[in-house]
Amino acid sequence: MVWMEVVASAPAKVILLGEHFVVYGEPAIVLAIDKRVYAKAELRDDKQLYLRSVNLNLAGHFENRFLKMEQGSAKEARLRFEPLKLVVEKVLEIYGESPGVNVEVNSTVPVAAGLGSSAAVAAAVTAAVGALLNVKVAKEDVFRISYEAEKIVHGTPSGVDPAISTFGGTLLFQMDTGFRPLEVKADIPLVIGYTGVERSTRAQVEKVRHIRDTYPRVVEPMMKGAREIVLRAIDALKEDDLETLGDLMNINHALLCGLGVSAESLEWLINAARKAGALGAKLTGAGGGGCMVALAEDERLEQVLDAIQRAGGRPFVARKTDEGVRIEGT
Ligand code: MEV
Repeated sequence: MVWMEVVASAPAKVILLGEHFVVYGEPAIVLAIDKRVYAKAELRDDKQLYLRSVNLNLAGHFENRFLKMEQGSAKEARLRFEPLKLVVEKVLEIYGESPGVNVEVNSTVPVAAGLGSSAAVAAAVTAAVGALLNVKVAKEDVFRISYEAEKIVHGTPSGVDPAISTFGGTLLFQMDTGFRPLEVKADIPLVIGYTGVERSTRAQVEKVRHIRDTYPRVVEPMMKGAREIVLRAIDALKEDDLETLGDLMNINHALLCGLGVSAESLEWLINAARKAGALGAKLTGAGGGGCMVALAEDERLEQVLDAIQRAGGRPFVARKTDEGVRIEGT
């Protein structure tokens, strides 16, 4: 049976520890959070692919590989829609036919902010189009296809973003060994602060590559340090030892500063959060703008939230979620 319309969703993520180092094979700890991206897929009578992003005010359709715009900037639309075209084509390959499809994306996650919105969109669209056509798309397929899409967006992604948006929960992720769910005793009270500055993950990853190529003997011990931070944090999470986790976040941020991926906009918010009593604070994701994350005891959350706001950020409390990509309804 083929449905007329399907809605799927996938969570955004926050990297607690290990971004950038993860691209070079080190482990990272990542959480799915309770902010989701929604994708609606509908069948069309013709063979066209129509794409719309409600929050980015973009709409267009592909005609013989060319994007024809209906709303918004063509440059922005190519950036956002090319990966989605690939995702839809991959699902159609499994289906074995090429019907027309409308895809509409609706998201509460800021884009280019370090919260993995592009991977969450790719995962939600894969699941929605798969379910629309009643194609058997296992979670492993959603991960594989959204990872392909991420390569168009970011060049050399580690795969951490599509993994967490697909599987949800709290994961220990490493490129060569894949991922495993982590044992987390309690809630991890987090405040995320958005700087309002969009930046390109690709450019930030290239910046780190340049530093690493120029100063290999300096950067190698930093990589080792980042690995030790994550290994120590696995025990801290098991034991619900938030103080240690906070310390490790602060040290991790110092290493990321050393790689050149912090920014003034981030430093203001991170310092404000620490002064307001956060146990630890760091940039999250690619840096250069985007978001920071602070760990704070429950009774301090409001203070940290206020401090980030007063420092010019857009803060929100993030709760971890176990739910990865899912079908919302048909
Ligand atoms: C982006 O969310 C995290 C980075 O480590 C890049 C990647 O892992 O693909 C900066």
